[in-house]
Amino acid sequence: MMSKVLILYGTRYGTTRGISNKIEEIIQEKGITTENYNLKGYNLKEIPPLEEYDGIVIGTGIKMKMWTKVVKKFVQKRKLELKNMQNALAFYVCCGEATDKNNIQKAIFEYITPKLQKLGLNPILIDAFGGAYDLTEGSAISGMTRKIVIGILQKEEGIENPDGKMHDYRDWDQIIDFANKFVDLLKK
Ligand SMILES: Cc1cc2nc3c(=O)[nH]c(=O)nc-3n(C[C@H](O)[C@H](O)[C@H](O)COP(=O)(O)O)c2cc1C
Repeated sequence: MMSKVLILYGTRYGTTRGISNKIEEIIQEKGITTENYNLKGYNLKEIPPLEEYDGIVIGTGIKMKMWTKVVKKFVQKRKLELKNMQNALAFYVCCGEATDKNNIQKAIFEYITPKLQKLGLNPILIDAFGGAYDLTEGSAISGMTRKIVIGILQKEEGIENPDGKMHDYRDWDQIIDFANKFVDLLKK
């Protein structure tokens, strides 16, 4: 009998928070209790022992090819506990690379598989979701970074005037499928 799932994420601009919240909503709809933590707000010691949970979902945004520091740190420090839970572990990244559906496998091979393999981790479910670029006024993407992102959106997505707008490439159906699959795998 399954009861409790832990959801953890790291985000720089908030995109992965939205994904994490959607995953939580879908899992809760199945009658499963969830806890959802933005790892940035917590000391690692505040995250309960993983054996208390029947499943764990970990997600991180990608910047300059890197995970968020908080997710990297968590996975390294709690590696042994995670190893004991591989059959109940799901891992995803939220990144620009996966915006193009043809690049999802590429993103997985670039940002997930080698890093987890190095730690000896082999989750039952992995995925890469397209991300978002918030270029509305006052967003966290500012200065030089904003200029770079504007350039990328013009070049790669062919958007003429990307500034001042929200560019959200998250595929909610893909995210919902991921959450449903995870629940099904846990039941087995
Ligand atoms: C400065 C910057 C660098 C980025 N670098 C990468 C990258 O190296 N690879 C990639 O696939 N996506 C990259 N992205 C896209 C982000 O992964 C995407 O915006 C994602 O939604 C960020 O997630 P977060 O808001 O949860 O941190 C970058 C975005 C920004 C703003």
